[in-house]
Amino acid sequence: MSAKIISGKDIAAQIREELKKEVEEMKEKHNVIPGLVTILVGENPASISYVTGKQKTAHELGFNSIQDDQPEDISEEDLLALVDKYNKDPQIHGILVQLPLPKHIDEKKVLNAIDPDKDVDGFHPVNVGRLMIGGKEAKFLPCTPAGIQELIVRSGFETKGAEVVVVGRSNIVGKPIANIMLQKGEGANSTVTVVHTGTKNLDEHCKRADILIVAAGVPGLVKPEWIKPGSCVIDVGVNRVGEKKSEKTGKMIAILRGDVDFEAAKEIAGAITPVPGGVGPMTITMLMKNTVKSAKTSAGIE
Ligand code: GUN
Repeated sequence: MSAKIISGKDIAAQIREELKKEVEEMKEKHNVIPGLVTILVGENPASISYVTGKQKTAHELGFNSIQDDQPEDISEEDLLALVDKYNKDPQIHGILVQLPLPKHIDEKKVLNAIDPDKDVDGFHPVNVGRLMIGGKEAKFLPCTPAGIQELIVRSGFETKGAEVVVVGRSNIVGKPIANIMLQKGEGANSTVTVVHTGTKNLDEHCKRADILIVAAGVPGLVKPEWIKPGSCVIDVGVNRVGEKKSEKTGKMIAILRGDVDFEAAKEIAGAITPVPGGVGPMTITMLMKNTVKSAKTSAGIE
């Protein structure tokens, strides 16, 4: 039987609807508007596209959103001063500095300068620590892993006691999603294994997974025979494997492929995310969710 396709596009739209209502209520009852600033340094086309998407969504949800463009040659000192300005601005609840930054700027220094209570990316070491401690301590979950958890929960998979296998140990996906899924509580409480390039018998681990999360960045790494029948497969890979002419616009667009052999895997898994349209649409939505949370916390709204 063919797997249920987990549509990140549909689930993201559903969460955005919920957030829109929350924002309206915050405005009406408390006169609070979530404020998000996205800082873009230089003119990297991929970064412009990401930031534009974030700003568009923030506007749609009724945020007070600011796009702050800075020249490629801004000094590290000036960028740190800009971050500090937004740290002190009570109208701003979320600060995002789009990565990558130009080579003359120490990325870590800039990310660490963001007030952890406005760090809606969840990249600051304080928030990484809060996530590890878990429970109420966890403030901002990093957006892609938070989106993965939502996809699993909202598609009805039981996480408690489930064997979760995470392929990949990056700081932005592998390590945080492993930490999220092992926490005690709703939507987690799983038995987690993290496998990586140093793991022996990768296939044997994957075959045990009730929930398989793949974030390796290797197109088609996971073979259909590695998948447990009926399991939930979350493919985080977004690999450009070529170009094609868009049917809509006639322009050349990237052909994207995930880390899982989707066509074959969908005949074995119980549910699976497509690429594109799976994990991707969730990331921006979770950024919005973090910003709403930040605004509520700073205004003392439950
Ligand atoms: N560049 C690519 N993805 C991201 C992201 O999620 N956050 C930031 N700050 N920069 C990025």
